[in-house]
Amino acid sequence: MDVPARDVDAVILVGGKGTRLRPLTVSTPKPMLAVAGFPFLAHLLSRIKAAGINHVVLGTSFKAEVFEDYFGDGSELGLDIDYVVEETALGTGGAIRNVYDHLTHDTVVVFNGDVLGGTDIGDVIETHDNNDADVTMHLVRVPDPRAFGCVPTAADGRVQAFLEKTNDPPTDQINAGCYVFKREIIAGIPAGKVVSVERDVFPRLLEEGKRVYGHVDQAYWRDMGTPDDFVRGSSDLVRGIAPSPLLKGRTGESLVDPSAGVKDGVLLLGGTVVGRGSEIGAGCRLDDTVVFDGVTIEPGAIVSNSIISDGAHIGAGARISHCIIGEGAVIGARCELQAGMRVWPGVNLPDGGVRFSTDA
Ligand code: GTP
Repeated sequence: MDVPARDVDAVILVGGKGTRLRPLTVSTPKPMLAVAGFPFLAHLLSRIKAAGINHVVLGTSFKAEVFEDYFGDGSELGLDIDYVVEETALGTGGAIRNVYDHLTHDTVVVFNGDVLGGTDIGDVIETHDNNDADVTMHLVRVPDPRAFGCVPTAADGRVQAFLEKTNDPPTDQINAGCYVFKREIIAGIPAGKVVSVERDVFPRLLEEGKRVYGHVDQAYWRDMGTPDDFVRGSSDLVRGIAPSPLLKGRTGESLVDPSAGVKDGVLLLGGTVVGRGSEIGAGCRLDDTVVFDGVTIEPGAIVSNSIISDGAHIGAGARISHCIIGEGAVIGARCELQAGMRVWPGVNLPDGGVRFSTDA
């Protein structure tokens, strides 16, 4: 259920190059890649709308025009969307400073545009208000924090430090990539310069004794930056493990666009998605896999934990596991691709001739 409108602006950082997801991001910026049938960003925008926030500023740089072409003024989503383009990427902190003139409220929630989250955004804002904080960071507790920088807090929730990755982290709280700022704090970030919010802005605010608090929870959280996380996040949305207002009542073991053709006897498992106009031949098995639009998969192919880009063609009996297949690539019949292979757009692998399996 939607909550009453809040006097809060949302800022989403979407200007990164998404290098870890290449070649998917060669033609499409990461937040616009299709996840569970919608551009990833549409899921985040729908959560922002459901939290009662109406004004959204997108901080863009890489392939800036793609966002406005798709979302326009935001009215179809019931939002008012502004676009601010960086001529050259300013980093996460520089991007936040760069949208300053477009802010209309004193409270600003900033989101990394590639985090799939289940946190109640309204709760983070309430923590911020209750503490009269200058900045409130959403901190998520994770089972294994060693792969992330961590953020210890005092008993009253005040942030004590920003610590780099270590094998022995003193807390399981990590930066979840969502922050509530007082607008005046954003004015204090140097303008027109490359600045990192994590490495430059937050440590400086602590040094200056600003009121920086954490909102800690254990809600669903995933950074969609790597192929494995992208596939897992998409599957979690399809299966309803990760929440999205766009998918209410439509979750299940797989999600097939009505225009796709799936032959009898095909197994679609683990939150697999089949996009617009894609054709899946008889006897295929797709597990934990994202199939974009206009893809053809010939009979008997077995695909798992992979992403198949627009217009790709997978030959009969091919086996593909943990791979990215680029736009329009052709994988010949009976090819075996494994172990993190990335096939670049348009590449053509001949029938039966390619076997990249690492086992035997
Ligand atoms: P990788 O190249 O794979 O690390 O991905 P990325 O470029 O998206 O970087 P990262 O995942 O660290 O970025 C986190 C979020 O901030 C993403 O939503 C990016 O789009 C965004 N972002 C990163 N750098 C910039 C920037 O310079 N400007 C803007 N506007 N957004 C940025």
